[in-house]
Amino acid sequence: AGTGKFFVGGNWKANGLVGDVKRLVSELNAEQISDDVDVVVAPPFVHLPLVKDSLRPEIQVAAQNAWVGKCGAYTGEVTAEQLVDLDIPWVILGHSERRNIIGESNEFVGQKAEYALSKGLSIIACIGELLEDRQGGHTFDVVFAQLKALADHISDWEKVVVAYEPVWAIGTGVVASPEQAQEVHAGVRQWLTDNVSKDVAAKTRILYGGSVSPKNAQDLAKKEDIDGFLVGGASLKGPDFATICNSVQ
Ligand code: G3P
Repeated sequence: AGTGKFFVGGNWKANGLVGDVKRLVSELNAEQISDDVDVVVAPPFVHLPLVKDSLRPEIQVAAQNAWVGKCGAYTGEVTAEQLVDLDIPWVILGHSERRNIIGESNEFVGQKAEYALSKGLSIIACIGELLEDRQGGHTFDVVFAQLKALADHISDWEKVVVAYEPVWAIGTGVVASPEQAQEVHAGVRQWLTDNVSKDVAAKTRILYGGSVSPKNAQDLAKKEDIDGFLVGGASLKGPDFATICNSVQ
């Protein structure tokens, strides 16, 4: 950790019926979480109003996706305006599950980032390579191409957090080692220095995501360029998520 306030996001993905969500919210409301951490949870769209209204206000709420443009005839989509209207301040964009399962391209994610920012949302922009990319030695090519497509559409980075989530580490229990994660985070920061500005590179928080757990969070958080986490599975258990939030020394 080194840049800005430590940031921990919980991505609930497509998990939780109403009863589960109520339980998780009351667990989170009961946990002690350090004030030195920005904490954001991302429930499924259908649960956003419930979570927004019942979660204690120190924990912010994010959507997991937003449409690329304004309200209209886009069946199944939810727009940035609709999130802003519900007072949802954050949105996750470019998650690997949307890139790889739904087929969102780098360019499309960039356009979504531009639109969400233009409506005043803060974004958690996700990037990360597949196992075959890493094995083929292409990690940085892939990650930099994803970053470039974002940077081409972002003029103000104040409301942007970048999440590096190697796809081979997501939901697999195979966490990147602190050294592996640090190497890519440092590369991302250098890319921002070279291609955006020194100032943006110095201020933008870079999160790590992929099998983060209460057991491995502390060691990851010690690394200079790991400024927080985006947590999937472990964010569905209040005590585990709180431990991860409190993992930065
Ligand atoms: O967005 C967070 C995520 O993809 C990581 O998931 O379950 O490996 O922590 P998980």
